[in-house]
Amino acid sequence: MGSLYDLLKQRRMVRHYSGEPVPRDVLERIVATVRRAPSAGFSQGQRLLVVDDPPLLAQIAALGDDEPLEGVEPWFETAAAQVFVMTREADYHERYQRDDKLQDGEEIEWPVPFWHVDAGAAMMLILLAAIEEGLAAAVYGIFGDDERKLRGLLRISDDLTLVAGVSIGYPLPDPGWSSKTSRATQRRRQVDELVHWNRWAQAL
Ligand SMILES: Cc1cc2nc3c(=O)[nH]c(=O)nc-3n(C[C@H](O)[C@H](O)[C@H](O)COP(=O)(O)O)c2cc1C
Repeated sequence: MGSLYDLLKQRRMVRHYSGEPVPRDVLERIVATVRRAPSAGFSQGQRLLVVDDPPLLAQIAALGDDEPLEGVEPWFETAAAQVFVMTREADYHERYQRDDKLQDGEEIEWPVPFWHVDAGAAMMLILLAAIEEGLAAAVYGIFGDDERKLRGLLRISDDLTLVAGVSIGYPLPDPGWSSKTSRATQRRRQVDELVHWNRWAQAL
């Protein structure tokens, strides 16, 4: 078992898989990490929808009407599973209307949508657990009409916000994707640009 830092060295989005099915118990371990994810007030508003049914996976892969991209490996068509990371905002309002969370008798003014923050934390655990299991994964946003179609296909109820999708499978090389994605087109920022110590700005 590797350390977290070893896992992180391998952490990248992989957008091409062998197509081999992933055993159910492996997927179960990956998605069970959601129970260890932090959540504001322990609201536990994260919800995961796991799709491993091959016909349904094929329907998901066929959803986008986009023309296939030139020079990239098949991505969705080769995934063994798709995990949809969702959040139930109402869980947060319900939790923060409880006595121990009220401020001056009112629900707090949310500094940021904690329900999105918590979905991100759960997403990260999935990415790391997939690597721990010898798999690879990639996150994608779900936009516009695709979202509407996906919600219908997967019978996602209106109280759930679809935050992102995560494809999972046994990794194959994806040089076509690697040369096109943001990872290759943007420079990696230096640590001192991202992390400051003690005060954000120097004194004038
Ligand atoms: C919220 C979110 C949405 C993303 N959406 C997409 C997407 O729609 N398509 C895609 O190819 N990659 C998507 N990515 C992956 C990023 O492009 C990727 O994380 C970034 O380029 C850094 O590369 P790395 O994760 O391989 O280190 C998304 C990542 C996140 C966190």
